[in-house]
Amino acid sequence: SFRGQVTLDGPSGTGKSTVARGVAGRLGAAYLDTGAMYRAATVAVLDAGVDPEDADAVTRTVAGARIEVGTESGVELVLVDGVDVATRIRGAEVTRHVSAVSAVPAVRRQLVEQQRGLVAAADAVVVEGRDIGTVVLPDATLKIYLTAAPEVRAERRAGQLGITDAEEIAALAQDLRRRDEYDSSRADSPLRPADDAVVVDSTNLDQQGVIERIVELAGSAV
Ligand code: C5P
Repeated sequence: SFRGQVTLDGPSGTGKSTVARGVAGRLGAAYLDTGAMYRAATVAVLDAGVDPEDADAVTRTVAGARIEVGTESGVELVLVDGVDVATRIRGAEVTRHVSAVSAVPAVRRQLVEQQRGLVAAADAVVVEGRDIGTVVLPDATLKIYLTAAPEVRAERRAGQLGITDAEEIAALAQDLRRRDEYDSSRADSPLRPADDAVVVDSTNLDQQGVIERIVELAGSAV
């Protein structure tokens, strides 16, 4: 069976989470969603009444917050200071502010250290995020960078949210673009493929096809 680390990075709306969970299931590996950790940090910031653009206040707030992620009997578990925020982290307010919070270097240092600790405890793990192959796990067994055409990403996200209105889909596409630009242009750990990443373009592949492809690559990477 697979032992090692698979990293899965890429922009928003590529179906990364579904693919990461699927690959983890197939490989019998643990799964870590690092985006959930940045989202949980954003909940802590918003609840403290702190301006997400105020890097010093954000740093202090997140340093004082206990962030826990995991799965229990297949259900996603996300806690901030013991309080379940798994639903809230997917909401519009958190999504709007998460890129600002995650651009703060001290926040990244704190969460990256926590992520490495969680990974070290697992024999086999699939880790999903933006900087996993480049920064968090530079020596990973297999690095995947998942992309898809922007229109396809907006449509998929709309499908997930049950949105059919053309204007709302256009707004969604714009929000994805804004977040990707923010994530790709930040100074600390910008979104980009690692030099040794395999780029998988899912524009014309369904999620099952993407999962098969990655499981195959993992099989030949060990
Ligand atoms: O993957 P998800 O959309 O939940 O990530 C939310 C946000 O968290 C991203 O847009 C990005 O700003 C940030 N993030 C990050 N580094 C990671 C994972 C997520 O900066 N490794």
